[in-house]
Amino acid sequence: MVKTKFITFEGIDGAGKSSHLSWFAEMLRARGARVTVTREPGGTHLGEIWREQLLRDKMTTESQALLMFASRSEHLDQVIRPSLARGDWVICDRFTDATYAYQGSGHGVSTDLIDTLATWLHSDCMPDVTLLFDVSVETARRRLLSEGRSPDRFESEQGDFMQRVRDAYLALAASDPQRYRIIDGARTKEDIREKLVDLIEELFPL
Ligand SMILES: Nc1ncnc2c1ncn2[C@@H]1O[C@H](COP(=O)(O)OP(=O)(O)OP(=O)(O)O)[C@@H](O)[C@H]1O
Ligand SMILES: [Mg+2]
Repeated sequence: MVKTKFITFEGIDGAGKSSHLSWFAEMLRARGARVTVTREPGGTHLGEIWREQLLRDKMTTESQALLMFASRSEHLDQVIRPSLARGDWVICDRFTDATYAYQGSGHGVSTDLIDTLATWLHSDCMPDVTLLFDVSVETARRRLLSEGRSPDRFESEQGDFMQRVRDAYLALAASDPQRYRIIDGARTKEDIREKLVDLIEELFPL
């Protein structure tokens, strides 16, 4: 019996997380896993309301960080812990690493504070595997523009904000190579899926 796993997808806006997430879940299901797919911020009734506000409304960095954790608390309580407890795999589009990268490195919230909130909320429930879709800020921006997507508040941040977010993700990955798998997001979607198939075979051997 393969142990169920909590898997998170991370990376800057436009890195390719959503392009592969449902497919990844389907591949796991095809191997017999029960899978819950979810996202942050969001994933619950309150979380989705807060997500809309976070992406749309101007607010202080402190409010952003606290709302992210409020949303995470609901999400852990209502979705992540119950799903893992009943034997589902959980695939989550962004989790606490995004708070370190965006609110921490991007906006200057202290790592100590994020550590404290993360430990308080989910020291018992950490991702087993984190896929970091790594791509240059230029490539990600070009992809989002060609998609015709209007930028949300994080995407429209100015200056080197997104570069700091990318660098923070790479530093997180370097600090925990056991948990992180870096996916070269500049490769074609087909190439990326080949890599993901290898990973799925490793995580869920038949
Ligand atoms: N490897 C790739 N090659 C070419 N285009 C890609 C690749 N991966 C994703 N794209 C395109 O880039 C755009 C952004 O991808 P996607 O929505 O998956 O990113 P994301 O990481 O989920 O972004 P966000 O954080 O903003 O939700 C989409 O138009 C997608 O089709
Ligand atoms: Mg996405």
